[in-house]
Amino acid sequence: MGQRKPMIAGNWKMNLSISEAVALVRTLVEEVGRIEASDILVAPSFTCLAPVREVLNGSKIALGAQNMHWEDSGAFTGEVSGKMLMEVGCTHVILGHSERRHIFGETDLIIDKKVKKASELGLTPILCIGETLEEREAGKTVEVLKNQLSGSLASFLSRRSVPQHLIVAYEPVWAIGTGKTASPQQAQEAHEFVRRWMAENFDEKSASGIRILYGGSVKPDNIASLMAEADIDGALVGGASLKAESFLGIIRYDA
Ligand code: 13P
Repeated sequence: MGQRKPMIAGNWKMNLSISEAVALVRTLVEEVGRIEASDILVAPSFTCLAPVREVLNGSKIALGAQNMHWEDSGAFTGEVSGKMLMEVGCTHVILGHSERRHIFGETDLIIDKKVKKASELGLTPILCIGETLEEREAGKTVEVLKNQLSGSLASFLSRRSVPQHLIVAYEPVWAIGTGKTASPQQAQEAHEFVRRWMAENFDEKSASGIRILYGGSVKPDNIASLMAEADIDGALVGGASLKAESFLGIIRYDA
């Protein structure tokens, strides 16, 4: 993990009412609101952002959104812009999550526009990539990751400069919500590939500074072995981030 500060992020997806989200975040603030060893982030639904922000105020826990549009405003019914997310207190935004790609048809072209906009605004993009089971079994993991990286970062590739604060999340689709975690070795191989790709396409310094999170059935009992790998800098947690006990168990993986 070296010089990179670990990050533990909770992606709440389309879960939790406002009162549930506020209660959860109150406990997090009480228990780990001043933690220095890792960066902690929660990504609630759009409707929970403002109430959660109120509770987070003054703590070290960061607020992220799960998606955004690439324009600032306009006739885009149902969409939320990065500017609006910043207004409500978000510092991060998850982009290109596999559920956005597979259920809502988001392409690399769209994701590239969003990453570009987020980074222009000063919102930290958490770019998600990952292969399906079929792709892994066909031996296509590296090819899929390479295509997703070059497609979703196309604007940056043409300038050969990547945003220094970019965070990448490797989330194998077959491990999301299935209880099947990638083994630490499988995850490390993918993370190592991502870092090498960054070095080859941008530069060594950016590659060694970029944090790469693992996502897919992360639990209190598997986080430590994942974090022990050289290129795993943190976790993007779905299901286990919805309950204080399991999320705190993950955040305190080295306690
Ligand atoms: P689970 O932790 O529920 O597998 O979800 C992972 C994920 O998709 C986080 O973005």
